[in-house]
Amino acid sequence: MHFVPTVVILGTGAFATTLGQALYRCAERPTKILIVGRTTARVAYAVRNITTAVDDSPAHIDGTVVDFGIDCDLCPIMNKHQPCLVVTCTSLHSPYEVNYTTNRWTSLLHTAGFGFTAPLQSVVAVRAAEAIKRTAGRQCMHLNACYPDLVNPLLRALDLPIACGLGNVGTLAAALARIYPTLGANKLAMAAHHRHLKNPPVGTADALVWLGDRLMPSITATLNQVRQWPRSRLNGLGATASGTFIARLLTGERLHENLPGPLGLHGGYPVLIDLDGCQPEVPSSHGLRAIDLQHRQHARCEGVEVKDRQIVFHGDTLSEMHQHGMLTDRARVPVHDWAKMAQQLLLLRETYRILPKSGRTTESEPTDEC
Ligand SMILES: NC(=O)c1ccc[n+]([C@@H]2O[C@H](COP(=O)([O-])OP(=O)(O)OC[C@H]3O[C@@H](n4cnc5c(N)ncnc54)[C@H](OP(=O)(O)O)[C@@H]3O)[C@@H](O)[C@H]2O)c1
Repeated sequence: MHFVPTVVILGTGAFATTLGQALYRCAERPTKILIVGRTTARVAYAVRNITTAVDDSPAHIDGTVVDFGIDCDLCPIMNKHQPCLVVTCTSLHSPYEVNYTTNRWTSLLHTAGFGFTAPLQSVVAVRAAEAIKRTAGRQCMHLNACYPDLVNPLLRALDLPIACGLGNVGTLAAALARIYPTLGANKLAMAAHHRHLKNPPVGTADALVWLGDRLMPSITATLNQVRQWPRSRLNGLGATASGTFIARLLTGERLHENLPGPLGLHGGYPVLIDLDGCQPEVPSSHGLRAIDLQHRQHARCEGVEVKDRQIVFHGDTLSEMHQHGMLTDRARVPVHDWAKMAQQLLLLRETYRILPKSGRTTESEPTDEC
């Protein structure tokens, strides 16, 4: 009897569903896909959405419910289903909240920047990695889509398993492949940070794109074109590219991809990946260290960096953390304090969601200057 791999997808939101659709559509071999969500209705809805319009997939899909709270224990799911891949696509922060509601919480997010959400984005990724470490170890690969440019370094600093992230640099590479269809996303090598999804402020380094070993000059104009696309379109592209990539990974192929947070590095890199592991693969003209320094600079501009097993806050993120009593006079906390910070953010969010927006901000996009 042939071994049938199991892929656990944590989440029932837009990213998880689109990724699941691509995986189900592109699966080349029998695969069990398990959708994990917080209610029976959301799981059933995601499963329906994933299977609609494809009747001949070799994949089999099922769902189960779990409480994705701060203390969630994913070991029972791991023990029961023994996946070879866990894909974290859900967190306690929805990126769409700022688009659909206006209250004190969303105006705080506009002021404090994306880094402010890092503890909330870490919750399920950390709990998934802990469950993998306790139950499966190296038998199971962990891919994280939730702010991987920052959460993956946190996982590494906590000594938890993480192969790489999904989306972000992969999303930009998939978008470039749309613009240059003869190239194909996996022929382009790209180093980019989550922050490059928006126009980088004047004077800061843009993403690097190579064709073979040749650095593509003047890529900024094309990337700026991509950055005008609605974020939901970009996220859809990234999630589809991720599902397609996972389907190929399961065939046992060794793949050249562009993925965020490989092995817990900040930012995204070209990588070589198969089911045994993932390695950054930087063209010889640029050292890994030089790119790491650049990515860390972007991380600081986004408000958070992981350094010396500490979470270090910067800029507006730091000021808002201070103002809201989440840090005393320090700018850093030990990485193990991530859950305490997530708990504080949940309490703050509960209070602020029912208050009107503060007068301090406009409805514009969060500023990204540093
Ligand atoms: N790497 C990338 O390129 C990329 C792109 C897009 C999104 N993301 C990340 O992926 C994650 C999900 O984003 P999405 O686009 O799928 O957003 P979404 O459609 O709004 O889905 C949010 C997901 O989080 C769950 N959730 C929301 N609030 C929660 C809470 N308080 N407790 C537990 N679960 C909660 C939702 O569960 P229900 O379904 O039960 O409501 C849903 O599964 C976010 O962390 C986001 O930053 C990454």
